[in-house]
Amino acid sequence: MTPPLLGLEQVTIGYGDLTVVHDVTLALRQGEFVSILGPSGCGKSTLLRAVAGFVPVKGGRISLNGEDVTRQPPEDRDIGIVFQNYALFPTMSVFENIAFGLRVAGTGSRDIRAKVDAIAEVAGILDQLPKRPAELSGGQQQRVAIARSLIMGTKVLLFDEPLSNLDAKVRQTMRREIRRLQAELGFTALFVTHDQDEALSMSDRIVVLNGGGLNRPAPPGRSIARRKPLLSATSSVPRTPCCQPARHGCSRNCTCKRVKVPMCDARI
Ligand SMILES: Nc1ncnc2c1ncn2[C@@H]1O[C@H](COP(=O)(O)OP(=O)(O)O)[C@@H](O)[C@H]1O
Ligand SMILES: [Mg+2]
Repeated sequence: MTPPLLGLEQVTIGYGDLTVVHDVTLALRQGEFVSILGPSGCGKSTLLRAVAGFVPVKGGRISLNGEDVTRQPPEDRDIGIVFQNYALFPTMSVFENIAFGLRVAGTGSRDIRAKVDAIAEVAGILDQLPKRPAELSGGQQQRVAIARSLIMGTKVLLFDEPLSNLDAKVRQTMRREIRRLQAELGFTALFVTHDQDEALSMSDRIVVLNGGGLNRPAPPGRSIARRKPLLSATSSVPRTPCCQPARHGCSRNCTCKRVKVPMCDARI
């Protein structure tokens, strides 16, 4: 059987004596867009940082294309991460921000120019390249952050609540833009959010991080086989009778004993 592009097997993560993420198993296949939905403080950022290699795991295994990367440093993993606060270098131009990884890797100037221009065009920021990040809108800054992560040919992109700082209208646009970029560039995405509308509108599949563990984690092969089309809730989202009939008319205030995040489970 083909291994998943990104695999987490019984991953447990914590800080000192504190265990934040318990026994998480998840598999993403090539080109999939999976969202992890959970309330603030449940361990979403911790999980992403561990996948990127910035936080060590206490137990379990992380694999990329079948290769065990659990103990590899971040720079040896073919994984990019996009943060809520963009994390751009404020004194560098947009061009230099995007070019940064290529410069560190010793790529020649002409190649850098061509690659930065190409990715900036796809990201819709070609005319912003000479500016500093502070001269850009929030949505444009997030496009720069995404372009910077993708320019190294990254196959897996992790998104840590990347749209939370944007106003509602830009957030809607950026949801579509991120999916368009994914379709054009073919990366595989693991996206975390506390916003269920965002998860439902963007994802091929949603899993709920609840109390440090995934709800109904499916074994890798099974979760891949159960992939549903974009814009449908998936089998990874637990059915919660109190939330039915779901999206249309579902009470925002409804709470469920089994799932802390109010969930809707109807097909859109
Ligand atoms: N560097 C750290 N050291 C100790 N505890 C941390 C650290 N980072 C996060 N935590 C704790 O881990 C838990 C999960 O945090 P986090 O992963 O940031 O959650 P989320 O992203 O879902 O809001 C919180 O209780 C938080 O206080
Ligand atoms: Mg977080």
